[in-house]
Amino acid sequence: MADTPLAWWRRQGLRFRLTAVAAAVLALALAVSASVLLTVLDRALIDTVDESTRQQAQTVRVQADGGTLTSPITTHDGTIVQVVDASGRITHVTYGADRLVPLLDAPARERVLREGDATFLDGRPHAIPGPLRVVVLRADRGQSVIAARPVAEIQTSLGTAGRVLLVGTPLLIVLLAVASWLVIGRTLRPISALRRGAAEITHTARSRRLPVPESKDEVHSLATTLNDMLARLEEAEQRQRALVSDASHELRSPLASIRLQLEVALGHPEGQDWRETAEGVLEDTMRLSKLAEDLLALARLDERGGVPARREPVDLDEVVRSIADRYGDARLIACEPLVVRGDALDLSRVLTNLVDNAVRHTTSKIEVALTGDGTLTVTDDGPGIPEQDRERVFNRFTRLDSGRGRDEGGAGLGLAIVRETVRAHGGTVHLEDAAPGLRVVVWLPRL
Ligand SMILES: Nc1ncnc2c1ncn2[C@@H]1O[C@H](COP(=O)(O)OP(=O)(O)O)[C@@H](O)[C@H]1O
Ligand SMILES: [Mg+2]
Repeated sequence: MADTPLAWWRRQGLRFRLTAVAAAVLALALAVSASVLLTVLDRALIDTVDESTRQQAQTVRVQADGGTLTSPITTHDGTIVQVVDASGRITHVTYGADRLVPLLDAPARERVLREGDATFLDGRPHAIPGPLRVVVLRADRGQSVIAARPVAEIQTSLGTAGRVLLVGTPLLIVLLAVASWLVIGRTLRPISALRRGAAEITHTARSRRLPVPESKDEVHSLATTLNDMLARLEEAEQRQRALVSDASHELRSPLASIRLQLEVALGHPEGQDWRETAEGVLEDTMRLSKLAEDLLALARLDERGGVPARREPVDLDEVVRSIADRYGDARLIACEPLVVRGDALDLSRVLTNLVDNAVRHTTSKIEVALTGDGTLTVTDDGPGIPEQDRERVFNRFTRLDSGRGRDEGGAGLGLAIVRETVRAHGGTVHLEDAAPGLRVVVWLPRL
């Protein structure tokens, strides 16, 4: 299979890729800075040489103009000077310099003068090893001053510097690559530990937490966040398991009751009142179907994760009125027009659950009120719920002891469905003391 370099690169591990990128960037940076360094150094050294050569030439020119030239000309830094007269003859030189052949012939002198700059000259034809920098100045009476300085030393130093960089740079890159490789390996180790921990969780389902590295870095926060997530998942799973076990528990007693009634009836058919049996069985069956309905309602709420099934404008006052009509005992003391956004069926279930509870617990009267600001209250004058239980009763399968005694009591899901539905609609619900009795206060945001 054809393998593009990009595909190959993507297949490499993070450690290799990070190290390679770091080394490549460093190599580029070092190469650029080395070449800049050498160029600038070369320029600066040559400039210095040019400057001092020109100064020497200047001094000699002044002497030539004043006719005070000595022979040989003395310079103090090894500059070679030749003074040439108008006819091209060399008149004065520094010690050891050529007296017969000018370093630059007439046309070359003209050119350098025109350009006004120092120039390179090969010293070998003049028995000087290496290159020279040459400056030419014009003096009076057609004389020219030629001053030259050998720059072989500069070139040697630059060459040495270049060789040092050539050896040092790769060494530095290798050093950095090794250091990066080690550091990145260290950094990635906790990630491998995380991966192993996760694999262990999947394979054994025993250890339920990932190893958290000691360093307080990004991997540390990743591990903590993942552990938080695992804790939440575990909690949700436990809740789910508790729900299943509670639900099975609730299913058991009506089923056992049905079975007992049928067994008794079949075991002693003589003198059996079948009608009574059927009524008993029907009652248990109704409890079962109510339980199934409540469980289904909760499952739907869970499934939707906190949003109502529908988001349509609902005339809550109409819902309230129709339910109040259905329950003869419930007195509608206020019913102002109110439109909320949500699911009419879900909202009517809220009200039914609340009125059902009130009917079950009240001694004489039930009052339902809906005001235009979105507040719906259901009040009864029964035993009420003690302060410390008013939050707890909203939990699933929570029945208070007083409620357990009553045979028509449900499985303790009614208020849980109320709260979760109201929350999904963006509202709140809480219980208050109606002295005597209980007031349930539901608030829903107005559309
Ligand atoms: N209006 C009320 N007055 C007194 N206690 C109540 C009232 N409504 C609910 N409760 C208590 O709260 C518990 C939970 O109510 P609910 O969630 O509707 O479950 P269920 O109706 O299935 O018992 C009930 O068992 C009952 O003890
Ligand atoms: Mg109830």
